[in-house]
Amino acid sequence: MDMITTRGLARTFNSRGGDVNAVQGIDLTVRSGEIVGFLGPNGAGKTTTLRMLTTLLAPTAGEATVAGHDLRTAPDAVRRDIGYVAQGSSTERGATVREELLDQAAMYRMSKADGAARADQLIDDFELAGFEDKLIKEISGGQKRRLEVALGMVHSPMLVFLDEPTTGLDPQSRANLWQHVRNLRDNLGSTVFITTHYLEEADALCDRVLILDEGRVIAEGTTDELKAAHGGDTITLTVDGEPGSAHAAIGELLPEAPTELDHHTLRITVVDGDRLLPQLLRDLEARGVQVTSVLLDKPSLDDVFLNMTGRSLRDA
Ligand SMILES: Nc1ncnc2c1ncn2[C@@H]1O[C@H](COP(=O)(O)OP(=O)(O)OP(=O)(O)O)[C@@H](O)[C@H]1O
Ligand SMILES: [Mg+2]
Repeated sequence: MDMITTRGLARTFNSRGGDVNAVQGIDLTVRSGEIVGFLGPNGAGKTTTLRMLTTLLAPTAGEATVAGHDLRTAPDAVRRDIGYVAQGSSTERGATVREELLDQAAMYRMSKADGAARADQLIDDFELAGFEDKLIKEISGGQKRRLEVALGMVHSPMLVFLDEPTTGLDPQSRANLWQHVRNLRDNLGSTVFITTHYLEEADALCDRVLILDEGRVIAEGTTDELKAAHGGDTITLTVDGEPGSAHAAIGELLPEAPTELDHHTLRITVVDGDRLLPQLLRDLEARGVQVTSVLLDKPSLDDVFLNMTGRSLRDA
């Protein structure tokens, strides 16, 4: 089953400086049980898209089905079946962790007993035990983020939107939150739509990623697919003796592969480097080329974005 489908979803803001076409006609599909990463530089339109899909912002064009309901005609049903953790959302009220969870349950009209049971379950699932009676302002940043994700899960939604849930967390807390996101999917079968600026996070966590740029989806697929299509592996060889003859030998062995020579170092761009490399080394040896060191670099998602747009996702 498809959990999200959109056709031509768009949003223009009329601001004083002129119209801003924040989202310019997005077609996307997210299947049930997937963890999908929504990536793109600052201002690409990620939050605007999430705000539309969570019914908080009206699209200026296009249509969408979210959790099986039409976004335009059944926004209440959409709201009932999804969870949303907003970008930079921070619960700073003078409530304790448990009180905040109970309030959220009450907001979803759960009975007192059901709300209390659910709060206990989430305190356990998100490793909040021991802090549950602390004031929210007294817990750490990582604990607060786990609470925020837990708050989005109070009503056991089948679809969860997380807008940069790990921004500002240390690497250990981030990895810990990833495990909780995986648990949502593995234990509850929830579908997760998550934005992040951490590319290694998307690599580690997401079944599939969509790359957004200037309000348009410019690439989608598994991270391996995107890297194979837009990156290319780099083999770096250092050779002993006459580098020119090594360069010529590689030209004969891999005529299609772009190769750069820099002093005694050769840089070769190939597809599927790990499979090519052993044979390449044997062939070079047979031709009398002495290889003294070898390095294989796989492309990152940042290389993919750089190749597609000429800009770095990281620096944007
Ligand atoms: N309420 C608004 N009024 C006018 N322009 C807006 C409004 N909200 C967003 N924008 C503009 O729409 C564009 C997309 O913004 P959006 O917040 O969706 O980007 P984003 O991809 O979430 O970026 P970030 O990675 O920084 O969170 C930006 O140019 C932004 O300035
Ligand atoms: Mg944003």
